[in-house]
Amino acid sequence: MASLGVNIDHIANVREARRTVEPDPVPMALLAELGGADGITVHLREDRRHIQDRDVELLRHTVRSRLNLEMAATAEMVAIALKIKPDMVTLVPERREEVTTEGGLDVAGQLSTLTAFIDQLQSNSIPVSLFVDPDQAQLDACRRSGAQWVELHTGAYAEASWSDQPKELARISEGCATARQLGLRVNAGHGLTYQNVEPIAALEGMEELNIGHTIVARALVVGLEQAVRDMKALIQNPRRDPLFGQLPG
Ligand code: PXP
Repeated sequence: MASLGVNIDHIANVREARRTVEPDPVPMALLAELGGADGITVHLREDRRHIQDRDVELLRHTVRSRLNLEMAATAEMVAIALKIKPDMVTLVPERREEVTTEGGLDVAGQLSTLTAFIDQLQSNSIPVSLFVDPDQAQLDACRRSGAQWVELHTGAYAEASWSDQPKELARISEGCATARQLGLRVNAGHGLTYQNVEPIAALEGMEELNIGHTIVARALVVGLEQAVRDMKALIQNPRRDPLFGQLPG
């Protein structure tokens, strides 16, 4: 059964819209945990557009589940991770002009740089996950990098039209099986919603889903604790084929 990592960047987005002190993602993480979050994920971006260094430092002290630090593969970020010691680092590609993380990490194209960072983190007991598209070449490179985990990018699946969604789901399903054959552990995330999460949660070997925007959006209506509880219920008991069930005639 997949577990749920709740990404709380969007709470910090609202705070930073006014560069003030509320809402504070640190106490909100506790509410996410009370709703059943198995982990808390934050992305410390190089431009600090939402999560701040102070948030990560405080969350390290307050999170009672697991803290997953998403970050770019840079010397600055690796130094921060070595100081904070999150329970996992997820390396993601980062471009300042993007609204959110776009494609997966090109592990094959920067294998030696990444391998050095991964080795530094993992030799300090911080497991590393690589956020990648579900492609064979990238997954092979992930295995060569020494990383223990991958996070499969579900953005293309989430954005696909209803007619393309089964094809994108099959890509993720195959990517998940390939990664496991290579000895990698598998998470997934990006763009998952209450409507599209179930087939991904039902994949054999899927360990954790990292979900942010849809949960924070629903929290405006029902509160964060309830929004997390609702997502956790879908992940724990997913229907396998809700997509296909919706296809006309
Ligand atoms: N996983 C990764 C690697 C991400 O970059 C993001 C977005 O910050 C997420 C998961 C969560 O995506 P969403 O907010 O669309 O649920």
